[in-house]
Amino acid sequence: MNKPRIERFTFPERMTHWLTAISFVYAGLSGTALWSRKMWWTASVLGGGETIRAWHPIGGVVFALLLALMFRRWATQMKIDADDRRWLAVSHKYAIHDEAGVPESGRFNAGQKMLFWVQSVSAIVLFASGIVLWFPELMPRGLRLIAILTHPLAAVASLGGIVVHVYMTTLVVPGALNAMLRGWVTPGWAASHHAKWFRAVQRK
Ligand code: HEM
Repeated sequence: MNKPRIERFTFPERMTHWLTAISFVYAGLSGTALWSRKMWWTASVLGGGETIRAWHPIGGVVFALLLALMFRRWATQMKIDADDRRWLAVSHKYAIHDEAGVPESGRFNAGQKMLFWVQSVSAIVLFASGIVLWFPELMPRGLRLIAILTHPLAAVASLGGIVVHVYMTTLVVPGALNAMLRGWVTPGWAASHHAKWFRAVQRK
């Protein structure tokens, strides 16, 4: 018999996710203020220029550590398999809700897995280049130049991914936000969005 509610995210998973999200928003807003004058207004909201110059790198390190926790928790579940490759090949159909021919998903669909890997790789680049920019006097010139280039590039990739992620999880897929806030989904939601995962949970 169907269970009335299915646990989608445990409490530690949700805590890790939301703390990562908070640190990301702080590092993202303070970082864009340091990057572009057009975003300077965020500096006044976050305590002024000197404050964000001092706290942005600390926020960045907190974000990287939390993302490392998320990585440890989910990396094995985010491996791209043959069904995911087929899913990615027809992802345009998923985007227009024409899901005939789109392979069924496990706990995470291939789009969600791609987000996870884009965030993981960007976080490594942001962390490494951020340390160089934090202590420039200790770094050789070549490394400083690479960091000046790669830090904003990785930030753009990461921010772009999160804009799509927030749009998808709050506006496109009703029920997803409830899963990350309260931890559970209905059997119908699980069967229609993550059919392979739903069957595996039912067998348990
Ligand atoms: C800032 C606002 C954010 C919101 C509103 C948000 C919302 C959500 C929601 C609702 C889910 C559950 C989706 C499902 O049930 O399948 C989720 C999952 C996830 N989130 Fe976030 N998130 C945010 C930020 C972030 C950040 C900053 C990261 C990482 C840098 C992140 C990484 C993930 C990952 C890897 C998953 C699992 C895969 C997926 O569902 O895409 N999220 N998020």
